[in-house]
Amino acid sequence: MTMYKRKDHGEISVVHLSTILCVTLLFLVPVTNATWWLLGMPSTYHSTLELKPTTYKNYCKKLHYLVEKQQELCGLNYNILMTVGRGAKMGIEECQFQFRMSRWNCSTFNNTPTVFGGVLNVKSREKAYVYAISAAGVAYSITRACSKGELSECGCDQKIRSRDTKGQWEWGGCSEDVRFGSKFSKDFVDSGEDRNTPEGLMNLHNNRAGRKALKRNKERLCKCHGVSGSCSMRVCWMYLKPFRSVGQWLTKRFDGATRVRAVQRRKKLRLRPLGKNIKRPGKKDLVYLDESPDYCNRNKTLGVFGTAGRLCNHTSYGMDGCRLLCCGRGYQTALRRVEEKCNCKFKWCCKVVCEQCSYVREEHHCN
Ligand SMILES: *[C@@H]1O[C@H](CO)[C@@H](O)[C@H](O)[C@H]1NC(C)=O
Ligand SMILES: *[C@@H]1O[C@H](CO)[C@@H](O)[C@H](O)[C@H]1NC(C)=O
Ligand SMILES: *[C@@H]1O[C@H](CO)[C@@H](O)[C@H](O)[C@H]1NC(C)=O
Repeated sequence: MTMYKRKDHGEISVVHLSTILCVTLLFLVPVTNATWWLLGMPSTYHSTLELKPTTYKNYCKKLHYLVEKQQELCGLNYNILMTVGRGAKMGIEECQFQFRMSRWNCSTFNNTPTVFGGVLNVKSREKAYVYAISAAGVAYSITRACSKGELSECGCDQKIRSRDTKGQWEWGGCSEDVRFGSKFSKDFVDSGEDRNTPEGLMNLHNNRAGRKALKRNKERLCKCHGVSGSCSMRVCWMYLKPFRSVGQWLTKRFDGATRVRAVQRRKKLRLRPLGKNIKRPGKKDLVYLDESPDYCNRNKTLGVFGTAGRLCNHTSYGMDGCRLLCCGRGYQTALRRVEEKCNCKFKWCCKVVCEQCSYVREEHHCN
C-alpha cells in the first residue's frame, strides 16, 4: 500500500540537485540526521507559517537541514511542513516541561543546527527521551491535523467502525487515525537513520517507542443521544489524550530505560541489555548506549549549563530538591517580593476584578 502519491517526474532532477547542495552543506556544518527539530524552533517555525501554497515546493527543496526523503514528504502537501514543525515544537516543549526540575533541563539553542547542542552526541538516556518525544510529537501533530481535515492525504479512522462494540455503543464522530500519524512519523523521522550502526539502532528503537506511546494514550469519548437525556444511544469515537499524558508516559519509560550494547546476531546488528539477567527491552521501552555526562557543571562543548543558579526546592528529597539538583554544592536562600493578583471578585456583569497583592517568597538557588 502506498500512502503517499503525487510525484511527477519533472521534480526528480531538482531533487538530485538539492542533494548535491545538501551534501555540500553537510561538509560545512556538522549536521546530525535529526536536525529537522529546527522546524520546531521559534524562528524556523514562524517562517513555515508564512509559506504560500504556490511557494512551498521550492521551499522544501531548499531546506538543507532535512534529508532527501524528508524534503520529498514536505513537498506532498502545503500543510505538512507546518504540521511537522508543530509536532517538533510540541516535543521540545514537553521535554522542557518534564525536565524542568532535572539537572539537564532540555535546554535548546536558537543559533545551532543541532538544536540541543553537543549534549546529544552522547548516546544517553536523555537522548533516548528526546528522540522518543519528538517522534511522538510528529505522529500526534499529523494525526490531529488529519482529523481536523488539514491534510488531504488522511482523515478520520473509518476502519474502527467495523470493530465490535457488543451493542453497548455505536461508533460515530471522528476517530483519530493514529495509524496514519505513526506511519508518517516513521517515514519522516526515521529516514536518515542507519540500521547498521549502534547509534542508528538506538534512535530507531526510541523513535518507535515514542510512536507506541500514542497508542497507549488514546481514549474513548462518548456522547449521549436520546429523548430528554435518556442516553438510549451512545455514540463513541477514539481520541488522543492531551500530549502531556504522552510526555508523562515516556518519562516513566525514561526512568526505567535499559542500557544496551550492540551485538552481531545472524549477520545483523541488534541491541541487547548490557548486564546479565536483565530483561530484554520491549518495543515501548527506551534504550541507551552510554551513561549520561555530568550535568552538574557547565560544559561548553556539550552545551550543558550546569545547575548553578537553578531554582531548587529545599524540602524535597527528589531530583528537584536542593540536595540533588545542586550536586552537593549547597544553595543560597533569597527573599523575593512577588506581586500577584488576589482577592478576585466577579463584578456584575461581566468582569473579574482583582486586587494587587504583594508578599515575600523564599527562594533557593544552587551555588
Ligand atoms: C535551563 O536552565 C538554565 C540555567 O541553568 C536556564 O538559563 C534555562 O532558561 C533553562 N531552560 C529551560 C527550558 O527551562
Ligand atoms: C565536557 O564534556 C566532555 C564529554 O563528556 C568531556 O570530555 C570534557 O572533559 C568536558 N569538559 C569540561 C570542561 O568538563
Ligand atoms: C517542595 O517539595 C515539597 C515536598 O516534595 C512539596 O510539598 C512542595 O510543594 C514543593 N514546593 C514547591 C514550591 O514546589
